[in-house]
Amino acid sequence: MHEHSGSRLSRRQLLRWMAGGGAALLLGGRGLSAGSGDAGSDGGLSDGMILREIPDTGEKVPVAGMGTYRTFNVNPAETEAMDRMRNVLRVFLDGGGRVIDSSPMYGQAERVVGLLAEELDAVDALWMATKVWTRGRDAGIRQMRESMRLMGKQPMDLMQVHNLVDVETHLGTLKAWKDEGRIRYMGITHYQRARHDDLVDLIERYPLDFVQFNYNLLDRNAENRLLPACAEHGVATLINEPFAQGRLFRHIGDRALPDWAGEIRCRSWAQVFLKYLIAHPAVTAVIPATSNPDHAADNVAAGRGPLPDADMRRRIREAV
Ligand SMILES: NC(=O)c1ccc[n+]([C@@H]2O[C@H](COP(=O)([O-])OP(=O)(O)OC[C@H]3O[C@@H](n4cnc5c(N)ncnc54)[C@H](OP(=O)(O)O)[C@@H]3O)[C@@H](O)[C@H]2O)c1
Repeated sequence: MHEHSGSRLSRRQLLRWMAGGGAALLLGGRGLSAGSGDAGSDGGLSDGMILREIPDTGEKVPVAGMGTYRTFNVNPAETEAMDRMRNVLRVFLDGGGRVIDSSPMYGQAERVVGLLAEELDAVDALWMATKVWTRGRDAGIRQMRESMRLMGKQPMDLMQVHNLVDVETHLGTLKAWKDEGRIRYMGITHYQRARHDDLVDLIERYPLDFVQFNYNLLDRNAENRLLPACAEHGVATLINEPFAQGRLFRHIGDRALPDWAGEIRCRSWAQVFLKYLIAHPAVTAVIPATSNPDHAADNVAAGRGPLPDADMRRRIREAV
């Protein structure tokens, strides 16, 4: 088992949070990996963005991140599409977002992120994550080098094994690359609840810094074993499909936002959906994807303001 130098949530603390002490744990507890926002100590971030600590190093990242699947897969030669995605990225950055997640599986996304980050002079500001998605050590090395070139990030902040493809092979490379300083953190990803137990098994066997998985109000399986395991082992988390690929919006339809949403400063269902996840102390960042600048502003704003306590989380579950 890997010993992390950083802080972590104990199982007891997490159980206390699940039993209703959530708000206290999030607001207090110096040194907990769940530490809440103290923007201002982190140069350049907009006021009030909630920051979460990466247990292995204590580095803090904004809890509102962004994904790039489908949305950033546009033709770099198409001006209109590039303008739209430049706006999405600018709004995200202006709102205090930093964590952006891509993959060689997402068509042109890595290239487009790299081009737009360069144009916006935001390569350094962005905290970039991408993945290796192929079989074999040498093919993985070639692919990861290309990803870093396309995104313009050296070292890459986070390199993840996508969907556990040839996971043990690539984790060997990632460990060596981390020791050599080519990547800053290593991780694994999946998007299906049926593979959550496999993720837990790998958390227990490898020195992982990050695990990325699906967690949303239509599928809360991650709350059972996976999030507690991440907390216990000091592993940071990225939450993919936070809107269940958009199904949550179709599910809620045109239902009016309840008055109580104002108590946690939510102006949209999107913010309610995200704040529900962000309130979990083992969540490091959520990474919703959008190709709409207004939605990007909406989503990144969910990283600010009060978070739902246990009672509010129950109300949100009941509403959904
Ligand atoms: N195995 C893996 O590693 C894996 C698997 C899945 C996902 N991921 C990562 O996780 C990211 C997020 O997952 P996802 O893209 O599948 O799904 P998602 O973020 O759950 O949902 C995206 C959908 O939500 C809509 N949306 C976003 N913000 C909205 C808002 N404020 N109001 C209304 N609609 C909104 C988007 O439409 P608009 O464009 O119209 O806003 C889009 O249709 C991916 O981009 C990827 O980076 C990783």
